Amino acid sequence: MPTGLLRSAPAGAAVYACGPPPMLDAVVAELPRSRATALHVERFSPPPVVGGRPFRLVLARSGVTLDVPADRTALDVVREVRPDVAYSCRQGFCGTCRVGDTLICTDRAAGDRLVLDL
Ligand code: FES
Repeated sequence: MPTGLLRSAPAGAAVYACGPPPMLDAVVAELPRSRATALHVERFSPPPVVGGRPFRLVLARSGVTLDVPADRTALDVVREVRPDVAYSCRQGFCGTCRVGDTLICTDRAAGDRLVLDL
C-alpha cells in the first residue's frame, strides 16, 4: 500500500505513481501527510467524466451530428461512427486524438455545440 512508502519519502521528494484508480486515489489522499511535495500520476485507464455537460458534436467533413452525453467523452461517441479515429492515452497528454485545437478524449464544448474537422 502506498501509505508506508509515502511516510518514508524524504522532505521535498517528488512522487511518481502509476496504477489503477483506487491506488492513485490513496496516494493523492495520503500525500499531504507525507514530506513529499510533488506528485506525478499516470493512470492505467482514463478517469471517468465527472461534472460534464452534454453537447452536440458536429463532424463537419462527415456531415454527421452526434450528441455527447454528460458522462461520456467526445472520443467515445465519435468512435461509434468513426472507429478508425486515432487515439492512445485517452487522458489528454499524448495528443494522438487532437483534431484542430481539440483533444477529443478530454476536451468538451465550451457551449452547447462543438464542430470538428472530421
Ligand atoms: S488520446 Fe491522448 S490526448 Fe487524447
